Amino acid sequence: MPSFVANVNQQTDVLPKGVKALMDNGLVTIPGRYIKPPSHRAVKHLIVPGVEIPVIDMAALESDREKFVQTLCKASSEWGIFQVINHGIPVATMQGMVHGVLELFDLPIEEKMKYYTEEVFVPVRYCTSMTPSQETHMEWHDHFQHYFSNREKEHPWPEKCRRLASSYVSSVRHLSQTLMSALSEGLGLDSNCLAKSFGDSEMILRSNYYPLCPNPDLALGMNGHTDSGGLTILFEDQVGGLQARKGDLWYDLKPIKNAFIVNIADQLQILSNGKYKSIEHRVLVQPDQTRLSIVAFCNPSRDAVIGPLPELIDEQNPPLYKSTLYQEHITNVYTKYLDGKHSQKLQIN
Ligand code: OGA
Ligand code: NI
Repeated sequence: MPSFVANVNQQTDVLPKGVKALMDNGLVTIPGRYIKPPSHRAVKHLIVPGVEIPVIDMAALESDREKFVQTLCKASSEWGIFQVINHGIPVATMQGMVHGVLELFDLPIEEKMKYYTEEVFVPVRYCTSMTPSQETHMEWHDHFQHYFSNREKEHPWPEKCRRLASSYVSSVRHLSQTLMSALSEGLGLDSNCLAKSFGDSEMILRSNYYPLCPNPDLALGMNGHTDSGGLTILFEDQVGGLQARKGDLWYDLKPIKNAFIVNIADQLQILSNGKYKSIEHRVLVQPDQTRLSIVAFCNPSRDAVIGPLPELIDEQNPPLYKSTLYQEHITNVYTKYLDGKHSQKLQIN
């Protein structure tokens, strides 16, 4: 497995241990490394509070597929982010996963540090922020990342969450396949068209833990970014803090209980030649509440070459993006494109 990041911290034995560890030690003011420069902080007058993004009712898929596809296609083109209800995934599976993940974050720090790495495609990664060894200003969150290929049995998992995570992942994978089929139809193509372009697709499950923050106005839980894969399926508790950007404004998303938040990521924007939008999003932190999110990234195979689908290209609709090996895009995201809006880097003009 290639290492994408020269792990400076690991070489010098000064690994950051995460923000939960800082807070558990009684921190009262955030360290300088977490203070964002004023230009990067959330500005109140640019935030639109309590916004209801489109809601996609999976039950409608059975009753009127064409209408369902139209609604999904509109949400993916106008917003690139929506909530999914009546998805059929039992609440017990979701809550079980939340408890399992919280137990992981509650492990003693020495246990968690056994998984500490900045590498991306490892079976289990514990890390804080995104790529701490390269960042001047860190994000106020820790995460566990679990990597699944379609051959997930090959991958060792921490005993504690192995069974729960496997059933959660198969449910979410099924949901992503259903959405991808409908998104293909929304482009006027065969329902397996997008899945075919993804090849032997992969899933990364990233659990983000945002401890309460003593100086929430100075920090960000996660910087503004687009997701670099295909489709992202996020489950969060009811704390809130996730915001999506349209133009200069940041829309504060109001979570629906037990719904998933789904967003279009870069590779679907590229395949659809810009019809579906990979929306920029970020996370604010709270002074009095800890937040948890469990994010499933449904991604193409690393050896898939992703470019605009040829069926969508003609004289009136020239390709807007270059074709790139997905693995190369990911490497660039973690090493070169550290400013968030990744799909722009592949734009032709
Ligand atoms: C991510 C992400 C949002 C959240 O992990 O890419 O955008 O709410 N997470 O944790
Ligand atoms: Ni994201």
